[in-house]
Parts: sequence; C-alpha cells; structure tokens
Amino acid sequence: MSKTVAVTGGTGFIGKYIVDDLLSRGFTVRALTRTARHDSRDNLVWIRGSLEEYGALAKLVAGADFVVHCAGQVRGRKEAIFTQCNVEGSLRLMQAAKESGHCRRFLFISSLAARHPELSWYANSKFVAEQELTAMASDIELGIFRPTAVYGTGDTELKPLFSMMLRGFLPRFGTSETQLSFLHVSDLAMAVSQWLIADRTTVYPYELCDGHAGGYSWQRIQEIAAAVRNGPVRIIGIPLPLLKFIADMSTLISQFVGKEPMLTRSKICELTHPDWSANNKCLFENMNWFPRVSLEYALRHRLF
Ligand SMILES: NC(=O)c1ccc[n+]([C@@H]2O[C@H](COP(=O)([O-])OP(=O)(O)OC[C@H]3O[C@@H](n4cnc5c(N)ncnc54)[C@H](OP(=O)(O)O)[C@@H]3O)[C@@H](O)[C@H]2O)c1
Repeated sequence: MSKTVAVTGGTGFIGKYIVDDLLSRGFTVRALTRTARHDSRDNLVWIRGSLEEYGALAKLVAGADFVVHCAGQVRGRKEAIFTQCNVEGSLRLMQAAKESGHCRRFLFISSLAARHPELSWYANSKFVAEQELTAMASDIELGIFRPTAVYGTGDTELKPLFSMMLRGFLPRFGTSETQLSFLHVSDLAMAVSQWLIADRTTVYPYELCDGHAGGYSWQRIQEIAAAVRNGPVRIIGIPLPLLKFIADMSTLISQFVGKEPMLTRSKICELTHPDWSANNKCLFENMNWFPRVSLEYALRHRLF
C-alpha cells in the first residue's frame, strides 16, 4: 500500500517541487494550505490550516507515515515573527506527529544558515528549531536538511540575480573572498524523497548544495556567467552602507504595505557572511544522494 506523507509548505516555491516529486514516486500526500486550493490531483489531499492551529496539524498528520516540514518564515522585520513560525510552529507540528501514534519519520527543512545562528533572526530560529525538535522527537526518526540557497523555476529571490548576470552585470555582496553555494530545487526534492525511504537515517544535520567543491567565489560565478552568455560580465560591488539603506527602507515600507521585508539589517549579516560553502558528504554517504544540476548547467538551460 502507498505510504502517506504529510507536507507543510506545499504551496511555496520548494514545497511544490517536494509534493510533485512525492506524487511521482507513488506516495499519497496530505498537504497543509492556508488558502483555498484548486489544483486537485490523484493522491493529493489539501488540509486547510496553519502552523498556528493545532487542530489542523492533527488533521494533517492523521494516518501519515512521514512528515516533511517545509513551511517556514523566510522574511520578517522582527525576531518574534521567525520564532513564532519556525520554532513554535515546528514544535506544534512535532507534537501532533507524536500524538498521531503513526508517524515514523519527520524531516525538517532547516537551512544552511542554521550553521551560524549568531548571524540573523532567521538563522537563529532554524537553529533553535533543530535543537528543540531533536530534544522532542523520541520515537520518531528526525532528519534535518540544511539546504544552501535554493533556486529553480518559480523562485523569486535568486532569479533577479541570475537574470542580471546573464545580461552582463553581477552585483556582489560582501567581500571578493566570499564562498557561496547553490542548489537546484529539483535536487532538493529528490533528496527529500530519498531520505524518506532510506534504510538508515541520522539526525545529524545534512548540508545540501550542488556539489561544487569549496563553493563558488564571485570570480568563478562571473566566469561561468561570461561563458554562458558568451560575453563579458562586470562585477558591481554593493557597498555596505547602500545595503543598509535599502534594508532600512524596505523595513519601513513593509509596515505600510503589510508584507514582510526580505532584506533587513539582520539579513545583511547573513548575506555578507564570507563562507557559505557546503558539503554533501553526509547525505552521499548515508543515502547515495548526489545532485544533478550544476549552476552552469542551470544557467545554460535557463532552469531558474
Ligand atoms: N529558498 C531557499 O533558498 C531556502 C534555502 C534554505 C532553506 N529554505 C527553507 O525552505 C522552506 C521553504 O522555503 P521557500 O523558499 O519555498 O519559501 P516560500 O516560497 O516563502 O514558502 C514558504 C511556505 O511556508 C508556508 N508557511 C509560512 N508560514 C506558515 C504558517 N505560519 N503556517 C503554514 N504555512 C506557512 C507558506 O504558505 P503560504 O503559501 O500560505 O504563504 C509557503 O507554503 C523554508 O522553511 C525555508 O526556510 C529555503
């Protein structure tokens, strides 16, 4: 009989790919949604509710063998916004999974940012959630994924950067020595499905990236973009005071438009951190997972 997976965040950029990958592998999916949904598909059931509603979470996980917790707050103008969703919401979901008496594995989509909780409210909320979920899981096998910056069709965060690069301009945050890493969303979705059915798992946080050894320097990104567009690419350093000004403006504006800002002073520390290289070793050794889409391939084939 097909296994059932309860998924949160299935309406978001990454979650949509996770749901698609699970359905393509024959899983039955129960997905949480905060709005009325329309895309009905075989083996997909939408459950209305949010991470704040215990009753909806209990309904979501009822009868589910696995939970993939991908919902998360990625933008916010104050720390409490991240804590309420990423920490308290995650613990509420784990509680529901435990009380269901049926769930065997729970996968938390954290972030590479959790490696440095001191950098931002977001990073800290993911780190604290990892710690508290680990303490709470007991009989449930917990997995923690720490993907680096994820891109793919449907993403709105990295797309402007990639589009600009292919027009010949590369805006650079932080210093020229910075090491970055990337991951195509299809590789992440595949890793999620593989983890659910793996023979053995470990709670140790798995880093995920596209496997480019040591990460990408800005110069390497420039070279790749130049090769793909077959023309020059100019790096434009964005000075820190300008970033801070943009962050302050978007924080201010967010209060009037009722939409949380992506760029805040807290986020700048994360963006300009010098080492966001990642290592797939643990996931490869445990599950034989390896990424298929490199940054160069994605840029050449416009997979973003
Ligand atoms: N994108 C990246 O580069 C990246 C990298 C590392 C880790 N991650 C993690 O991956 C996850 C998904 O990120 P994403 O880029 O796909 O973000 P996204 O497009 O903003 O999607 C976020 C998802 O979470 C849901 N959500 C947020 N708050 C919720 C709440 N209180 N109750 C129920 N659902 C809630 C959203 O629902 P609505 O549709 O109703 O808003 C949406 O489905 C997040 O946990 C993020 O931290 C992302």
